[in-house]
Amino acid sequence: MPTGLFDARAVIEAVRDRRATVEGVAAFAAGLADGRVTDAQAGAFAMAVLLNGVSEEVRVALTRAMRDSGDVMRWDLPGPAIDKHSTGGVGDSISLLLAPALAECGAYVPMVSGRGLGHTGGTLDKLESIPGYGVEVTEARFHALVAEVGCAIVSATGRIAPADKRLYAIRDVTGTVESVDLITASILSKKLAAGLDALVLDVKVGSGAFLPSVQQAQALAHALVSTANGAGCKTSALITDMDRPLALTAGNGLEVAEVMDTLTGRAVTPRLVDLTCALGGEVLALCGLADDAGQGAGRIRAALDSGAAAERFGRMVAAQGGPADFVSRYADHLAPAPVIRDVPAPHAASVVRIDTRAVGTAVVHLGGGRMKGGDAVDPRVGFSALAAPGDAVGPGAPLARVHAADDASAERAIAALQAAFVLGEAPAPVPLVQERVA
Ligand code: URA
Repeated sequence: MPTGLFDARAVIEAVRDRRATVEGVAAFAAGLADGRVTDAQAGAFAMAVLLNGVSEEVRVALTRAMRDSGDVMRWDLPGPAIDKHSTGGVGDSISLLLAPALAECGAYVPMVSGRGLGHTGGTLDKLESIPGYGVEVTEARFHALVAEVGCAIVSATGRIAPADKRLYAIRDVTGTVESVDLITASILSKKLAAGLDALVLDVKVGSGAFLPSVQQAQALAHALVSTANGAGCKTSALITDMDRPLALTAGNGLEVAEVMDTLTGRAVTPRLVDLTCALGGEVLALCGLADDAGQGAGRIRAALDSGAAAERFGRMVAAQGGPADFVSRYADHLAPAPVIRDVPAPHAASVVRIDTRAVGTAVVHLGGGRMKGGDAVDPRVGFSALAAPGDAVGPGAPLARVHAADDASAERAIAALQAAFVLGEAPAPVPLVQERVA
C-alpha cells in the first residue's frame, strides 16, 4: 500500500468487521514501526485481532511484515544458528540454561528475548538482575558476541522487528496478550529476523499459560510450527506443563539464583534440567547436530552435568558486562530482598492445584513485573521454595517463601499465594512434556 494511502483506522475497522486483508495488516505492521500508527490505534488493532482472530493467510502476512519491519540477520558461522522460544510462563528460566548448553554442543545461539509480559516473566528482566549485564547491544556487537562466546541473549535492537517491539509493549498493558495470532506474529517476527537455521518452541499449557487450554495450546503450536517452517526455518514445538510454576522460584533474581544453583550442581532443580534437555535435544536434531532428539538430549545433559554450560554462561555474562566472577560468586552479586517470610499453609494437606497465573500476578504486584509500560522492575522480589502439586504442606511445611520490598507487600503476596493454592488429596502426577508438534 503506498505510504500516502495508508489509513490505520480502515485496517482496524476491517479487523473489527472480520474482513482483514493481507495488504492491510502488512501496512499496519509497517506503520507500527515507522510511527504512522498511534498507540491508541495499536491497542485497538490488538483488541480487534484478539476478539475476532484472523485467517492463517493474514496471520502469516502479519508475521512476515513484522519480521520485515526491521533488519533480517544473516550469519556466517562454523555451526548452525539455532534458538528456542517459550510462549511465556511463570518461573520459566530455561533460556538461561539452554543457550550455553547448546553452545557447548557446537551450535551458535543468537537469542533475541523479551521482557515480562502480563503475568509472565521475561528473560531480559531476569538477566538484568545480574549487575552490569547489558541486554541492549548493537547488531554488530550482537554478531561479535555470538561468534566469540557461542551464545548471547539480548533485547531486540531497534532494528530487529521494531513493529513487534512496539506492539508487545502495548499488548502488555491493554489486556491483548492472549491471542494465537498475535503471539505467533510476535514470537516469529523476532525469531525469523534473527536468521535462524532451526528453532524449537516451548508452548505452555495450563493455568499459567497465556492460552491455558490444551486445544488453544495445540492451535498455537500448530500455528507457530507451520508459519515458521513455511518461512524456511526448521521448527518443532513441545507442549509443556504450565499448570504450576516451572521450578521452585518465580521472580527475576531468585530465578537466576536457581539457574546458577542448577548449573553449578550446588542444588539441582530436576525439572529445569529435564525441560532443558528435552528442548535442546529437539533443536539439536533439527539442525543436524544430533541424530535424533534423544541423542541431542543426552548431549545437553552432559554439557550441564560437566559444568561446561556453567562456565559458558559465565563467559556470556562477562562478555555482556556482568561480573567476571559471577559463576563462583553469584550469591554475592544478586541483591536480596529486605523482607523474606514463609507463606504458611492454612492447614495440613497435599497441594492439589495451583492457579499459576495468580502466582505470576502476585510476583508482578510485588514489583517483579510491570503494571504499566516503563515501570521499573525490582529484581529482588518473588517467591522461592514453591510447593508443587502432590507436595505435603502444613505446619513447618509452608507453601513458599516470599521475598518482598516491604512488610505491606509481603502481606499482600502471602494472601494472594494462599488463595492461589488448592489443598486436599494428592493428585496424579502430570507429565512435564505433554506433546510434540512437528
Ligand atoms: N513471547 C513473545 O515474544 N511474544 C508473545 O506475544 C508472547 C510470548
